[in-house]
Amino acid sequence: MEQLHYDKTRRFLHECLTMNHEQYNQFLPEVEALVQQHVGDKVYFRGLIELSNICVKDCYYCGIRRTNSTAHRYQLSLDDVMSAVDISYDQHYGSIVIQAGERCDKAFVDYISSILKEIKQKYDGKLGVTLSLGEQSKATLQKWFELGAHRYLLRIETSNRELYRKWHPNNCLHDYDKRIETLRTLREVGYQVGTGVLIGGPSQTVEDLVEDLLFFQSIDVDMIGMGPFISHPNTPFYNKNETNEDLKSRYTLALRMISALRWLMPNINIAAATSLQAIDPMGREMAVKAGANIIMPNVTPKQSRVDYQLYPNKPCVDEEAWECKGCLDARLSMVDKSVGYNEWGDSPHFFERL
Ligand code: 5AD
Ligand code: FES
Repeated sequence: MEQLHYDKTRRFLHECLTMNHEQYNQFLPEVEALVQQHVGDKVYFRGLIELSNICVKDCYYCGIRRTNSTAHRYQLSLDDVMSAVDISYDQHYGSIVIQAGERCDKAFVDYISSILKEIKQKYDGKLGVTLSLGEQSKATLQKWFELGAHRYLLRIETSNRELYRKWHPNNCLHDYDKRIETLRTLREVGYQVGTGVLIGGPSQTVEDLVEDLLFFQSIDVDMIGMGPFISHPNTPFYNKNETNEDLKSRYTLALRMISALRWLMPNINIAAATSLQAIDPMGREMAVKAGANIIMPNVTPKQSRVDYQLYPNKPCVDEEAWECKGCLDARLSMVDKSVGYNEWGDSPHFFERL
């Protein structure tokens, strides 16, 4: 009986991802009703702080991979981080996300701890704090949790083990099982856990994406961020023949993935990935229409934004942080959404699973 239900779900998800334009437009009101019912009609902002592009890993798709010698490496000072936190607070964003390339050396772990202490001291509880800092030991994750971080994003990138192997070097730094294990640890420590995948990566099929959605359900995640793959010129996955059509079809697929996921897991938080906006200027707003309820405006100091290039054509690199807010307010009203200012905007799923 259960198997039958599972097969039906799998078939439906496959249909969602391959719907034509007309069928998709008919499906959207159903998705919107689920949004209203389970997460409400507000969109929540998280100020995104790109702390550093120094990374020990060498993922084949990523522009800040260790062996990309053309990347200009930086790490924000504590003052710069705190001014980005201040901007987020002043703009009433409610939460921040601290993201960086992966490092687990003591200096880095201690630096994050000192940032968290500073945030706690200044804003105790007034700002939600999400970390997106890769695989870390349980002791480190525990420490950061005790210092006030309460959500953690760690994308699995693909739930297909063979594909994971193709997208990463074959060594202990890029181990599929370790990544899954870290997702489990995050949950044990008590974080609201987020993951996600690349959409339209090399050799990935629609069936793989259906399995990704089922994977999210099987690990019972609280938050998802997923966006289209965009090939970066200084990576092994650069495809000089990539056309606008290729990007557009990945974009369409990414929106369908968001809607399918809202149907499958209606009470989780789903972020509108910035890579959507790199393909279409209205990408994030379209993601909200498709079922996303989180947007991460960039609050990184302008001079460093350009260096945090995971993929080319990154949007908003020329805007100052405060310019993003007015722009986003206007854009969201175009899709009939309001913003949950000064609210953490936690995933209802997290509280319902406790
Ligand atoms: N295209 C789109 N997204 C990418 N990321 C890394 N490289 C690319 C790319 N070329 C995503 C990964 C990572 C997140 C921070 O950025 O999924 O987890
Ligand atoms: Fe930095 Fe993949 S290249 S985590």
